[in-house]
Amino acid sequence: MTPAVKAVGLHVSRGRKKILRGLDFAIEPGRITGLLGPSGSGKTTLMRSIVGVQRLTAGTIEVLGRPAGTPSLRHNVGYVTQAPSVYTDLSVEANVRYFGAMHGATAADTAEAIAAVGLEALVRRKAADLSGGEFSRVSLACALVAHPSLLILDEPTVGLDPVLRAELWERFAALAESGTTLLVSSHVMEEASHCSSLLLLRGGLLLAQLSPEELSERGKSHDLERAFLHIIQETDDAPAHRGVSESQVAS
Ligand SMILES: Nc1ncnc2c1ncn2[C@@H]1O[C@H](COP(=O)(O)OP(=O)(O)OP(=O)(O)O)[C@@H](O)[C@H]1O
Ligand SMILES: [Mg+2]
Repeated sequence: MTPAVKAVGLHVSRGRKKILRGLDFAIEPGRITGLLGPSGSGKTTLMRSIVGVQRLTAGTIEVLGRPAGTPSLRHNVGYVTQAPSVYTDLSVEANVRYFGAMHGATAADTAEAIAAVGLEALVRRKAADLSGGEFSRVSLACALVAHPSLLILDEPTVGLDPVLRAELWERFAALAESGTTLLVSSHVMEEASHCSSLLLLRGGLLLAQLSPEELSERGKSHDLERAFLHIIQETDDAPAHRGVSESQVAS
């Protein structure tokens, strides 16, 4: 099966700073992959590279079998950035309709995307008059309306209350169930449990790619945050990545 995303020897520098330092990984289609790592570890830079808006210093990324950034991928890849890009002077519905129009979406698609993020009651509300959580869900609806096969979400649950966060993860699971590939970044480790596979990033290096169960086992804790910290410590103690198997470590 063609991976949804395949990165080989990916290096990205910005100015003189090396941001991503030799990443190799593949993302299985139709699953939720979590991109986890501390602030500044390179999550957004990696997402930008996959979307094709980041210049690579070395290496390659293929998305749905085509080089990242290929124009024909525009309709297949949805990207919700960390800072929501929504028109504040337009209503919820007008925003989603506008983004949908770029992908040939119908009125039914617009209604469906708004319903998928639970904003039916607020369709006519101006985006400027929404709460923070509602506002961020509008940008998610704007990405959903195009029915992308790969959906890239940069910290979509930041600022959401626990109930909304749980609801959103349910929607992500439903999307994956229907065949969409999701790549979701977070620095909240407890969210890792909702993912099938995790990419653990630190300082621009991929520490491991593993399932939440494997993380818990290898990090010797059911608390995924502790487990991650354990793996970080282990890597710090042994530059040769002792304790993490070869196949799961980027060189
Ligand atoms: N335009 C830029 N020029 C130089 N360095 C940059 C630029 N943008 C980001 N960086 C640096 O690259 C590193 C990775 O940034 P990135 O935004 O990818 O991290 P992140 O993991 O998404 O962090 P966060 O969790 O805070 O969003 C950081 O050290 C950041 O300061
Ligand atoms: Mg970021």
